[in-house]
This record gives sequence, structure tokens and C-alpha cells, in this order.
Amino acid sequence: MKVIDGKAMAEEIRNELKKEVEILKKEGKKVPHLAAVLVGNNPASETYVNAKVKACAEVGFGSSLIKLPETITESELLEKVKEINNNPEIDGYIVQLPLPSHINEQKVTMAISPKKDVDGFHPENLGRMVLNLPCFLPATPAGMVEMLRRSNIDTTGKHCVVVGRSHIVGSPISILMARNSNPGNCTVTITHSRTKNLEEYTKSADILMVAIGKPEFITAKHVKEGAVVIDVGIHRIEDASKKSGFRLVGDVKYDEVAPKCSYISPVPGGVGPMTIATLMSNTLSAVKISF
Ligand code: GUN
Repeated sequence: MKVIDGKAMAEEIRNELKKEVEILKKEGKKVPHLAAVLVGNNPASETYVNAKVKACAEVGFGSSLIKLPETITESELLEKVKEINNNPEIDGYIVQLPLPSHINEQKVTMAISPKKDVDGFHPENLGRMVLNLPCFLPATPAGMVEMLRRSNIDTTGKHCVVVGRSHIVGSPISILMARNSNPGNCTVTITHSRTKNLEEYTKSADILMVAIGKPEFITAKHVKEGAVVIDVGIHRIEDASKKSGFRLVGDVKYDEVAPKCSYISPVPGGVGPMTIATLMSNTLSAVKISF
């Protein structure tokens, strides 16, 4: 069994990006600038956004953290989005989700300029992804594909089973894994909360991608011997033996599943750091983008 070290891989990507920034600087070209919009005080969102801003500093990108109050109205936020779309200093930006319940996330996502949509959530980017045209790929699925690529895992003709159908992870990763590209060329099955006899599907997976949002949901009985398992979940669960009072777990019960796998990504230190690294790659692309 090999552990896919997402943390080390993400560092490798950041080092590659750092070199590219040096070249841009030498050539007198614009250094990429990422902005992150954070509405309200959701602690998990604050942690994620801070990690994104920190990653910018590490690779030499400019960054702005735009903090807005929980009470902002939808039209005020849409106005802010318009302002960022027109700000030439900002090459790419994200609006961290979830947004407060009085704001329509879809409306906000659709107001982001597709050319600055480094999250790849805009329908234009998602449509381009389906058509295999140049676009920003959503960071988490793109990071998952990059993990397979950098681990030299052969995916052609394999059965990839995706658990979860979210717009951010499950749906896009199913499309990327079925595409005529490498990694890709898989036969893909999407499963979700309404799937009957889930185990029947997961047990036949050569590659199992889990993004169901339920702590330690996938156990040894769901996994075939020799499978590749990529775990997207991240949850805090109480643990009195830890100083912090909690520990982080994924959607996969790691200790019992790992011994059965040929490769597995851990939580923490798997998909999470790769998501941020991919967001940085997308931001570099944003300065070069021509679609
Ligand atoms: N919330 C959880 N994941 C993400 C992400 O990748 N991008 C944004 N904008 N919000 C998120």
C-alpha cells in the first residue's frame, strides 16, 4: 500500500509555480494576483481562505482578502463582484462558499467573470470542461486528477466509482475521469445518497473517489483489494485523547481501508493541500488566459 502524500505533492507544485513567478518577474510581466471574498464568520471558511492567502505568499503571488459582513445584501455582494470583475489588478478570485442563506449562491457564481473564475464554478467553465475546451477546472477535482498523474497511476479502462454528486466535486470528477485523456479514460459510475446497495458498486471500483460528506462512511467492506482510494471528506470529530479535543477524519475509515488499497490519500494531508495548489495553478493560468 502506498500513501499518496498530497502535502508533499502540493509543495512540489508550489515550488514549480514559484519558479514561473520568478520568470514572469524577470520578463517584467504581471505577477498573478488572487482575491478571496469571505462573507461572514464561518470558522471553516475562514481557515480555508487563510490557507489560500498563505499559499499565495508562498508562491510569490499577490493576494487580497475581502472580508464582508454576514449582513451584506445580495445586491451589495453582486455589486462587489462586478467591481472585482473590472479591477485589472485582480487576475482571479473566489467567493468562498457557503454564503449566508439570504444570498443566492448560484446568482453570485454566475456573476463572476468566467475569465477570473479560478474556482471553475461558472457554467461557462463547467460547460467548457465537458467539451474539453480550455477552461478553469474546479480546484478539488483537478487536484484529485493531478494526484493520480503524479503517482503514475494508470487509469485507462479502469472502473472509477464516485461516491457523491455535488457540483463542486462528485459531478465534475466523474466527467474528468471519463474524458479521453490521461488520467481519464475510465468507465465511471456515480453513486449518491439515494443509491441502493452502494457496496455492490464500490466493491467493483478499481478507483474509488469519495466525496459524500459523512465522516468515516466508507469502510473495509466497501473496498476491493488493490483499489486506489481518494478521500475528499474532511471532518472534525471529538477526541478526548487530543489536546485540541478533536481530530480530523475523512469520508473513509482510513485504518481499516488503507491495508486493502494499492494507493490511498490520507486526511489530512491528501486532497486538501492539492485543492489549494490547483487553485494557485489556475491563478497563474488566469494571467495567461486567452479563451
Ligand atoms: N467551499 C468549500 N470548498 C470550496 C471551494 O473550493 N471554493 C469555494 N469558493 N468555496 C468552497
